[in-house]
Amino acid sequence: MKRILSGITPSGDGSLHIGNYLGAVRQFIELAKDHECFLMVADLHALTTIQNKEMLKRNTETLILNELALLGDLKNITFFRQSDVPMHTELQSILNNVTPLGLLKRAHAYKDKLQKDVMEDDINVGLFSYPMLMAADILLYKPDLVPVGKDQKQHVEITRDIAERFNKTFQTKTFKLPEPYIPEEVAVILGTDGKRKMSKSLGNLISIFDDETVIKKQVMGTYTDPTRVHATDRGHIEGNMVFVYLDFFGEAATVADLKKRYQEGKVADVEVKEYLFASLMKTFAAARERYQELKAHPEKVKQILEDGAAKARAVASPTMGEVRDAVGLTNKYSFFHYS
Ligand code: TRP
Repeated sequence: MKRILSGITPSGDGSLHIGNYLGAVRQFIELAKDHECFLMVADLHALTTIQNKEMLKRNTETLILNELALLGDLKNITFFRQSDVPMHTELQSILNNVTPLGLLKRAHAYKDKLQKDVMEDDINVGLFSYPMLMAADILLYKPDLVPVGKDQKQHVEITRDIAERFNKTFQTKTFKLPEPYIPEEVAVILGTDGKRKMSKSLGNLISIFDDETVIKKQVMGTYTDPTRVHATDRGHIEGNMVFVYLDFFGEAATVADLKKRYQEGKVADVEVKEYLFASLMKTFAAARERYQELKAHPEKVKQILEDGAAKARAVASPTMGEVRDAVGLTNKYSFFHYS
């Protein structure tokens, strides 16, 4: 089985919406069927932007619950928290030395920040060296593929660059060059306004784990066809977000029938929305149940993370041992050895 690795930063509030599900989680579940997977909650990465103890705790806990509930079966998946595996920061610190400043200055995250309101001298070094921590996240596990969103592609390229430099500088084959994997069809999932990418902060989301009443309201407020005034008017499907979502969550035959009737002016918006709501509840029924179950049993979550960290360390440790050897940190007086 090929190995894949990915990470999610708990920089938002940690709750996932259907855009996150369609854009990332779903593909990961698909890949996990026939790949050996490592998935980390990148809490150290979140520190670059969240410097508030309570907030970081809350976001991380929420993200862990959301992810676990959606993933369900963890067969083939090692799910862990970045800060539970200290080799990530150790490797980052070594990679610092083979990474030219210029490479990091070209990183989008850093450049974007510069374009905003911040003076270069005020940008924290953690944000600047974010790609190195991500390179460490990846290289420790020698994955074949790294599934990421478009915005993270550059980070995987930087990782390849760093890996090559390391291997060349130290005349070693320690690191495997990872390939970014960007699922095509998902590109960007628009929000319920039909205009911008779905996001919690824009309020154009449909959530997964909120109360049914909340989700129903989000569905009912979804953008459909502004040219359609009466249910008897012929409606349009293109750009109609309810149908965009239904293509993913509805049953093909029912959706086809609804589309036909909608275009003929034979079905009301409300009925289509009711069907979307029912389809969402059906799609996420098991996940919503797991969510409640895990929420009620923190000790189960803790155990999952403990097992995940142990498995992650079992892979990261030998790599770190190789790295120490390759750079010459190990010598005849060494008593500390990994693995
Ligand atoms: N930086 C990634 C993001 O914001 C999350 C991440 C951290 C990651 N470490 C990773 C993704 C390693 C892939 C591989 O989306």
